[in-house]
Amino acid sequence: MGNEMGNEMGHETPETQLEVQPLLSAIDLCKSYGGLRAVDRVSIQVPSGSITGLIGPNGAGKTTLFNLLCNFAHPDSGQVTFDGAPIHTLPSHQISQKGLVRTFQVARVLSRLSVMENMLLAAQHQTGEKFWNVWFRPGQTQKEERQQREYASEILASVGLSAMAQSYAGALSGGQRKLLEIARALMVRPKMILLDEPAAGVNPTLINQICEHITQWNQAGITFLIIEHNMDVIMSLCDRVWVLAEGQNLASGTPIEIQQDPLVLKAYLGQ
Ligand SMILES: Nc1ncnc2c1ncn2[C@@H]1O[C@H](COP(=O)(O)OP(=O)(O)O)[C@@H](O)[C@H]1O
Ligand SMILES: [Mg+2]
Repeated sequence: MGNEMGNEMGHETPETQLEVQPLLSAIDLCKSYGGLRAVDRVSIQVPSGSITGLIGPNGAGKTTLFNLLCNFAHPDSGQVTFDGAPIHTLPSHQISQKGLVRTFQVARVLSRLSVMENMLLAAQHQTGEKFWNVWFRPGQTQKEERQQREYASEILASVGLSAMAQSYAGALSGGQRKLLEIARALMVRPKMILLDEPAAGVNPTLINQICEHITQWNQAGITFLIIEHNMDVIMSLCDRVWVLAEGQNLASGTPIEIQQDPLVLKAYLGQ
């Protein structure tokens, strides 16, 4: 009897651990620029399937943390684990192939290319397409491109950018560029997207649309970590929020807990 219980419990423990293991986990990340500790022993966890927020005053280290999570900047120390494996030693394109992608605070769309070309380029980078495939397997390459075009058209339709597919990306409004950036991120069928201020400089109507899309994509299985100053966006979307201040962890909790946390208020009001 005692033995059976022991077996059962022995069985349960690892399963429970698997369930609670976050999709993304950063431990003790550090990054200095000269004498400035932009990110100073920061740890965060993002549960699979969540929409998690990352907030903090300007200069708190939020964007630098994103850079470290995707290895756009190399951490001085610390670890990043994604989907059960360490990623902080991998180059960014391999991190994206594993299903972790990001957008930028200032959207990085290619203005002189069409919206559709921007989409296809994102997919091409992902597959690591070999140029000799074009010579030796032309049929395969054409088929893949056709499939990618169809997938891109579907995504553009879902974000209301179909009519702009052949326009220069430079002709899009600020809000539409943000949408295009997220749409490009979706081309690689990611498990998780890091969004750096998706609502910044976007008009209120489009902000609502972006929030609705994020909710839909989340329901389809994509996990999000979102940096955002717009507290309505954070409050309405996020399950959990992490707060950074002066390069360090300050707090984490539900949006309501964070809103009422005296430490957080103090950091924002600079008292
Ligand atoms: N490449 C860099 N070189 C020098 N300093 C940087 C660099 N990137 C960020 N910083 C500094 O690190 C701090 C955190 O910046 P950042 O991560 O952009 O903050 P946030 O996104 O929270 O506003 C700031 O003081 C910023 O000036
Ligand atoms: Mg920033």
